[in-house]
Amino acid sequence: MARMSGKVAFITGAGSGIGRASARRFVEEGAKVVVAELDVDKGSASAEALGDAGLFVRTDVKDEDSVRDALAEGARAFGKIDTLVNCAGGSIVDDRAVTDVDMAVWDHTIDLDLKGAFLSCRHGIGHLISAGGGAIVNFTSVVALKGAFPGHVYTAAKGGIISFTQALAGRYWRNGIRANAIAPGIVLSDRVASRMDVDTAAPVDDQIAKAMDPNNRLVDDRHPFGYGVPEDIAAVALFLASDESRMVNGAVIPAEGGASAY
Ligand SMILES: NC(=O)c1ccc[n+]([C@@H]2O[C@H](COP(=O)([O-])OP(=O)(O)OC[C@H]3O[C@@H](n4cnc5c(N)ncnc54)[C@H](O)[C@@H]3O)[C@@H](O)[C@H]2O)c1
Repeated sequence: MARMSGKVAFITGAGSGIGRASARRFVEEGAKVVVAELDVDKGSASAEALGDAGLFVRTDVKDEDSVRDALAEGARAFGKIDTLVNCAGGSIVDDRAVTDVDMAVWDHTIDLDLKGAFLSCRHGIGHLISAGGGAIVNFTSVVALKGAFPGHVYTAAKGGIISFTQALAGRYWRNGIRANAIAPGIVLSDRVASRMDVDTAAPVDDQIAKAMDPNNRLVDDRHPFGYGVPEDIAAVALFLASDESRMVNGAVIPAEGGASAY
């Protein structure tokens, strides 16, 4: 049987990058997916590529009404929601050390990277309970596992995601809900690749070959195995969303080649 057969996932930020790759993998494995995305062009294109198994619902994860309505619309369309993948997020280039950062970055980043997942759970968990249980996959980052990142707001937001995920795990297992988080290192989503002059339209194998090139400036002790591609992280999300990870709850899975281990 397909690994996500009969499941309905609500994936925020599924218009690009890791969210879009996860949507694709989930559908390949039998799921239906609500593409909960702010950008209309990206969201509709991503959902269209999923055929009947995809539904785009314009969603702003910073806005409580928008999140609540999007979940309700997805549940109406597909009959239920049993999986939340809270992927919308990302650091911005204006993020800085605490003494230097503009507080506008705090407002944007905490809202997007921490409150977004909070709101999705706030209004999504009821749907998971109605469905008889389910899985939550949150997105933290390697920056929350090591204090080396110069953007302190993003670091604080992603650290919050870890504690929040553990709290979810401890509270909702009684409802048959597991909550876990993924901590990627550098992943070549379009957003990140555009900062690094990498062609994300190239075949994935070519991107991986480039990432593994020893002459690549990113392959070093701090970036074992170079950088990832969205499909690498989607594979972890698929595992955590599927029943194969039945005994995994409250975990943070680093997906950064081992960078945080030493
Ligand atoms: N790419 C990396 O290197 C990396 C590393 C560690 C963690 N992460 C985390 O993984 C997740 C996905 O990252 P990515 O690089 O694939 O991102 P991405 O920028 O490729 O995709 C994020 C998507 O979220 C959408 N979005 C932005 N604001 C939104 C909002 N308010 N409501 C709904 N959707 C919104 C964007 O339009 C975009 O389609 C993020 O949480 C990010 O912090 C990424």
